[in-house]
Order: sequence, then structure tokens, then C-alpha cells
Amino acid sequence: MCCVKRNMFVSSLVLLLFVLHGVGITAIRKGPYLIYPKNNNQMTVLWQLDLTAVCTLAWGLDTTYSTGSTSVSEYGTDHQYKYTITGLAPGTRYYYRITQDINTYSGSFLAAPATDATSVKFLVYGDTRTNVADHNSVCSRIVSTFTADPNYQSVLLHMGDWNYTDSETDWADQYFSRAYSPILQMLSGIPVHGCIGNHEGSADGFKKYWPYPFQAETYWSFDYGPAHIAIVDQYTDYTSGSAQLNWLQNDLQTSTKHWKFIVLHEPGWSAAGGGHPNNTDVQTYIQPLCEQYGVQFVLAGHNHYYARAIVNGVQHITAGGGGAPLTDPATGQSNVVFALETLQFCKININGSRLNFESVKPDGTVFDSFQLTLCDNGISPADYTGPEGIPDCKVDYYDLAVLTAGWLNCADDLCTHLVNFNDFALFAAHWLDCTDASCN
Ligand SMILES: [Fe+2]
Repeated sequence: MCCVKRNMFVSSLVLLLFVLHGVGITAIRKGPYLIYPKNNNQMTVLWQLDLTAVCTLAWGLDTTYSTGSTSVSEYGTDHQYKYTITGLAPGTRYYYRITQDINTYSGSFLAAPATDATSVKFLVYGDTRTNVADHNSVCSRIVSTFTADPNYQSVLLHMGDWNYTDSETDWADQYFSRAYSPILQMLSGIPVHGCIGNHEGSADGFKKYWPYPFQAETYWSFDYGPAHIAIVDQYTDYTSGSAQLNWLQNDLQTSTKHWKFIVLHEPGWSAAGGGHPNNTDVQTYIQPLCEQYGVQFVLAGHNHYYARAIVNGVQHITAGGGGAPLTDPATGQSNVVFALETLQFCKININGSRLNFESVKPDGTVFDSFQLTLCDNGISPADYTGPEGIPDCKVDYYDLAVLTAGWLNCADDLCTHLVNFNDFALFAAHWLDCTDASCN
């Protein structure tokens, strides 16, 4: 009798588990989240479940997800799933949905810009570890930013120290926390690309969850519209003669992009405080490459505040306000032009030869902003374009062609459709303002 009861209990339990499985008790553990695979026709969607399943990923131009659909089986040894959607139109918004039993998980993304795009917007933050609620407050503002301006739903650069440790527990409870919907919304809506920090340790968890198209170790680079972004691994040798520094030099030298960014964790110039001195390897090995190959930005974290230093025209940003316990920047640090202890993220807006930069608090307050151009002495308003289709820091024939085309197409009531003396006087005044030594 005893055995009969036990067998009945076991049978009932098996039936219950079967039924529960059938009604979708399966839990998603991470994601969905996104990786941009260095190809503006593609996006990789990733997620992790608590069991082996066959999922369906469908995508499309709206929430009918009618462009494509595929079955996705797990890979690896820990119920991970990923699929790279191909055939995307650059710069176009897509919606995707993962179906597993009756569970569905959805998101959207903006396919990366056209290769010859001259404008792009993207976001920057770092040091998201430890205080998940604070990280969530930054994520919430990031989501509202790209909801208000969909062009910011592009790529989010991460400056490292994603979690307190690289352990499974910390990846689950911190960066991929499921306790806050803004974190989930952000991860499902924008590919996050970043470097490792000292808290990533061996980076086994980092490489498991972020299988980026690495060049080697955890460094690589990619183009994104008019920007070239190189991600440096400071825990692999990058001193003179190292494989990484040789790669970086060649990478920057051969890039045809006008705007260049280096992402790394420990800043070369920052505002001290919190026990972190400036990283002299960045000063010795990275800064000369920036000056030689026209890198405008070195984006870093490590110090849990925002700081900006300018060294020979190179902007060294510390964007360490992503959620880690804040520290107080010291005053009077060399080359530092701005520092503030605050949670924050950065917005970068490139339009041709002009770049607008903003650092933003979770409440939306912009507390540091500046503009750069590709020319040291600024660009005349009459510099519309150049032979490569973007402003080239010279007011020349190409600009005259744009300007006259504007006149010829003039549809304004006040427009005379005539190119007259006054128009040329205005245009010539811009030429006369040119003070660059290379100005012709
Ligand atoms: Fe750090």
C-alpha cells in the first residue's frame, strides 16, 4: 500500500511538472539582448533559459514580425540561445519576438547605419556594478532617451566593471537583473558593446555572455556609420611591441572614418579620488596613437564619477557613473576641465564634421556639454561638403555647388531665383573668415 501511494505521488508529480511545462512555467534567465556583429545588414539576438527548448525567433518591420522566422536551439552547456538575423536594411527599425511554449519575449532594434552615413547618434556609460537600483535609474533614462529620439536606439558603449565579480551569480543578479523593467527594456532594445574592467577578472563570464567578434582576447573594433570604435583590453599587454598595440596602430591607421573613438576601462587622465591614479600606460602608448591618427575621444570609466580631460586636443572622458558606488573626484587635477560625482551616461551626436556631446544625469539634467568639429579652428558655416561627401574643413568648389543648387531649387516666396552680388558677398565673407594655415 505504501509503495502504491508513493508511486501515485511520483506519477502525480511527473504529471504536474508536465502540465506546468505545458503552460509555460519555463523562466527566462537573461535577455533578450543584442550584439551588433560588425555588419549593418545583421543583428544578433541572445537569451538564456532555464532548460533545453526549441524557440522560434520572428522579426519584421512591425509587431506582426512578418519578415522572417526561424527555429533556434540552445548552444553551449548552459541553455544559451542566439541567432544572427541577416538581410536587414541599414538604419531601419526592426521588431523581434521569441516564442517558447506559450512564453514570448520581444524587443526592437535599429539596424546599424549605412556604411556611407555621415550622421549617427550613440550612447556611452560604464561601471554599472554593485548597486543595481542605481544602474536601473541610469537605464531608465537611457530608455526614455531613445524612446524620445529613436536615433539614439543605436549602440551603447560600456566602459567595463559590468558587475562586482565575473561570477554567474553577479551576472544574473546585477547586469542581467530581472528585477527592473527598465534594465530589461534597455537590453532588449540596444546592442551593448564594451571593454572589460578589473572587476571582470578572468572574463570567462564576460566572454560567455558577450561573444563579440573579438580580434583576440577581448579587444576588437568596428565601424558604425561615420564612427570607428576600437575597444581595448587593458588586462592583455598593450605596451610597445605587443600584439594588441600593433593591432590598434594598424586599425587606427587604416580606418577611413573621420571620427575615431577608443573604449577602455582605466583612464589616462581623470580626476583621481577613490584611490585610482591616472593610467600611465594610456598616457605612454594610447595617447601618441590618438594624436597620430586623429582619435578624438578616449572613453573610460573605473572612477565612479564623470570627468573630462583634454590632452593635445584628445578628449579623455571618464564615464564611471553607471551605478557603482560613487566617489568624489579630486580638484586641481592636470588637464581636467570638468568633474562631477554623479550617476550619468553620455550622448554623442555626430552630424558630418560636427559632434555634440552631452553628459546626462538620471533625471535628464545635462550637466556637461560641448561641441567639436573635425577642424581644430572650427568650420565655417559655408563648409557644406567636400569631395568625400562630408564637410572637409575648407570652403571650396564643392560648397559653392551645394549653395548654388540651393538657389536654383529655391521655392521660398522671398527667393529671387537669382544669384546676385549680395549672395556672393555673403559667401565670400565666409572664405575671408578662414584663418587656418591650410586654408586656400
Ligand atoms: Fe574598475
